Amino acid sequence: MAGDKAEVLMIGQMAPMIIDGIAQAFTLHRLWEAPDKELLIAELAPRLKAMAAGGPVHDPVDGAFMAKFPRLEMVSSFGVGYDHVDAKWAGEHGIVVTNTPEVLNEEVADTALGLLLCTVRELPQAERYLRAGNWLNEDYRLTASLRGRKAGIVGLGRIGKTIARRLEAFGLPISYYGRHQQAGVPYRYYPNLVDMARDVDILVVITPGGAATKNLIDAKVLDALGPNGILINVSRGTVVDQDALIAALKAGKILSAGLDVYVGEPRVPQELIELDNVVLLPHVGSASVHTRNAMGQLVIDNLLAWAGGKKPLTPVPETPWPPKRKA
Ligand code: 8YV
Repeated sequence: MAGDKAEVLMIGQMAPMIIDGIAQAFTLHRLWEAPDKELLIAELAPRLKAMAAGGPVHDPVDGAFMAKFPRLEMVSSFGVGYDHVDAKWAGEHGIVVTNTPEVLNEEVADTALGLLLCTVRELPQAERYLRAGNWLNEDYRLTASLRGRKAGIVGLGRIGKTIARRLEAFGLPISYYGRHQQAGVPYRYYPNLVDMARDVDILVVITPGGAATKNLIDAKVLDALGPNGILINVSRGTVVDQDALIAALKAGKILSAGLDVYVGEPRVPQELIELDNVVLLPHVGSASVHTRNAMGQLVIDNLLAWAGGKKPLTPVPETPWPPKRKA
């Protein structure tokens, strides 16, 4: 039974600080722990107004799931990306969806640069070489370099701009591809991704996932990037045609790739694991204690604002505040 506090359904297990923070202010229901999930959903369905979503496995919150809760008002999601939530459906049904932007910009940009440096200079491979005792026989081979390269950013949003500032400090000319040219941005804009890929030799992918960007980086883009090209993906696995990428890496159509995200993660194709010209991270873009705590606090603060009748701090564009409920 719920007391006076508003109820929140957490779909998948989130970090302890988020669980504790929500449980302090709300009556928290833990769907992932329920022995019979459908039973808990049926019990809560007539009265539940809020849920928290977006644990490591990206619990899908689609229209069919939200439709089970006719009084649902608020979905507080963890992560800046919210491709696991059907925000369009939510907006059309008067439900507000919030995400956790801004607080992770610097962390993800740090990771992107770290991944780029690792990929171009083969730092993880060189480290493995030392650990295997091979240095005793021979120096590690000379690698490619950042010197003389040009970078193209796919998706110049908040994180994309934070990455661009770091690339500027490394002395790299920067271009970007996106749906629109942005005013006041000092970087060259390409309305065509293949054209940009042809002109640069590093592509950094940091555009939102979802249907609109599925397989945006396809065989044509990889061909255009060319045999000296490096692909860095810190957005969503779905943005890259993973099979085309594996084929391009195997055939030397591009030089190398640094990946933090995958189609079907946390399962990573064995073919990628076996390749030596990739650096593979387990989706750790924002994964520091500092930044994950800031993101978690935003999940809680969005729920608190909603419960207090105030505008949530970070509603996504598809679900403006105040919501318009359908008659
Ligand atoms: C999240 C991310 O931590 O913010 C995002 O969109 O990809 C990561 O920073 C991830 O969503 C956690 O599941």
